[in-house]
Amino acid sequence: MVEAKIIDGKAFAADLRSSVAEQVRQLKASDNLTPGLAVVLVGEDSASEIYVRNKNKMTLEAGMRSFEHNLPADTSQKELLTLIEGLNNDPEIHGILVQLPLPSQINEQNVLTKIDPSKDVDGFHVFNAGKLATGSDGLIPCTPLGCLMMIKDQLGDDIAGKNALVIGRSNIVGKPMAALLLRENCTVTIAHSKTVDLPAEIRRADILVAAVGRAQMVKGDWVKEGAVVIDVGMNRLPIDKEGESKLCGDVDFDEVKQIAGAITPVPGGVGPMTIACLLQNTVNAACAQNNLEIPKI
Ligand code: GUN
Repeated sequence: MVEAKIIDGKAFAADLRSSVAEQVRQLKASDNLTPGLAVVLVGEDSASEIYVRNKNKMTLEAGMRSFEHNLPADTSQKELLTLIEGLNNDPEIHGILVQLPLPSQINEQNVLTKIDPSKDVDGFHVFNAGKLATGSDGLIPCTPLGCLMMIKDQLGDDIAGKNALVIGRSNIVGKPMAALLLRENCTVTIAHSKTVDLPAEIRRADILVAAVGRAQMVKGDWVKEGAVVIDVGMNRLPIDKEGESKLCGDVDFDEVKQIAGAITPVPGGVGPMTIACLLQNTVNAACAQNNLEIPKI
């Protein structure tokens, strides 16, 4: 049996970031426009802090402006909404991202709907979610967008008619991922915690996207031979005998790579693509706000 191709998300994301940097150079030269991204972090969640630091670094490396807002954990919803209103009205800012999760005193959905939809580079506003669901162009959530790019890189642009299974129904990944695959004319199934026979659903899938947050849940003998397997999971395994706590995905990588046609590793698969897509969304938002053509990638 031939082992799966390991999809190099790091290299894919580096290519996309350099394409974004080139688009930014052209926008500066031809339209005197520098895209700006504001990232808001409330509280001190350590994973979120690392993520936000990387976003800022890569925004600057792509030649864009980065505006970081670090608010204390006890920030009220009213204070956060006042900040968002200011960012909505600031012409130097083309993209706004509020890092999730937010502390419990703040209603996430309420905050997300106050972001100007044209600056909603996460694609989480109901307006952009509705556009995606109804098949019109809006800002698309970054992780599913990155997953789709990697799927098409393996299977070609035409994935119509493929059986696609998305495990997980979150607003951040599962639902928009399913909507994107449906827009590509795949036959889409969404599996979740109440799905009766998950292995049977997975065995039918030519394209599998796992986004449940359960370490190594998808086993080798559940997967269809030759399937493209995209692992969105980011789970920390308990500390091992060497005193290390390793990251792993929702897919049992060592087993599934024996069966699949292509598979993303964790880390180094989907993760790096999310930030690269965020940068692309920020350029797209800046273009749309200035009545410029959205770059073709
Ligand atoms: N937290 C985990 N992933 C994401 C993401 O893609 N966007 C935001 N805003 N918060 C997150």
